[in-house]
Amino acid sequence: MAFVKFEEVSLAYEEGGALAIKDISLSVQQNEFIAVVGPSGCGKSTLMKLVSGLSEPTSGYVYIDGRQIGGPQKCIGMAFQASNLLPWRTTLENVMLPLEIVQPYRSQLRRKRKEFEAMAMELIERVGLKGWEHKYPWELSGGMQQRASICRALIHKPQLLMLDEPFGALDAFTREELWCMLQDLWQEQPFTVILVTHDLREAVFLADTVYVMSKGPGQILVKRDIAIERPRTLAVTYSEPFAAQVHVLREHIGSIRKS
Ligand SMILES: Nc1ncnc2c1ncn2[C@@H]1O[C@H](COP(=O)(O)OP(=O)(O)O)[C@@H](O)[C@H]1O
Ligand SMILES: [Mg+2]
Repeated sequence: MAFVKFEEVSLAYEEGGALAIKDISLSVQQNEFIAVVGPSGCGKSTLMKLVSGLSEPTSGYVYIDGRQIGGPQKCIGMAFQASNLLPWRTTLENVMLPLEIVQPYRSQLRRKRKEFEAMAMELIERVGLKGWEHKYPWELSGGMQQRASICRALIHKPQLLMLDEPFGALDAFTREELWCMLQDLWQEQPFTVILVTHDLREAVFLADTVYVMSKGPGQILVKRDIAIERPRTLAVTYSEPFAAQVHVLREHIGSIRKS
């Protein structure tokens, strides 16, 4: 059974208005890593809002774990292009935030604070931020802020991680480091991932399956399986099979832009 399932989903933001996405059907298996690529305005963030329960389809159905979505979901972690760290909180305090909000952690927090802090520190260490846990966001580089933001998205052990262009504002070197970090986290303790990006290399590096969307109203044009062995290394990005995958996606995107 699919973990996330879209069944002929369309959405218009205004009643009777233009469709932002049209007839989208797709299935994401548990612990699958998918990437959605497409031109700006094609409805990628709209897809994310549908999965997180922030928007409802105009027609069609969205399911998580076999249940139709009604309202905000707590089994989800999210990170965006802007890290959205709270400036008055340290790294550790930012990472702990979901534990103050999401049950069952919320009601256990007072009793288990030490244990939860240790959990947060373990994650902080895993992403290479040890020593930075008591710093404030403005003391961190952009890449470090995104690392912290991903820790915050994962601290409550969500079954589904949703990433909306999380590395879009970073320089190329930092971006590639974070691809590796994310792949490591996911391989160690798998969860389902929906990554939205317009970086085709990023999609091919990280995803099991890449979906290409058309420009608005967004539809799924192509689904490609990326059968490159894991763990994928940055060296792999210079290999022929990798370049071939990126090239095929590039051609699909190119043909959308011309049409
Ligand atoms: N809250 C909103 N109200 C009205 N229109 C919106 C809203 N959010 C997005 N749209 C429109 O829906 C379309 C898809 O937007 P979006 O999902 O943000 O695309 P993407 O993330 O791929 O850039 C665009 O035409 C955008 O202008
Ligand atoms: Mg967007």
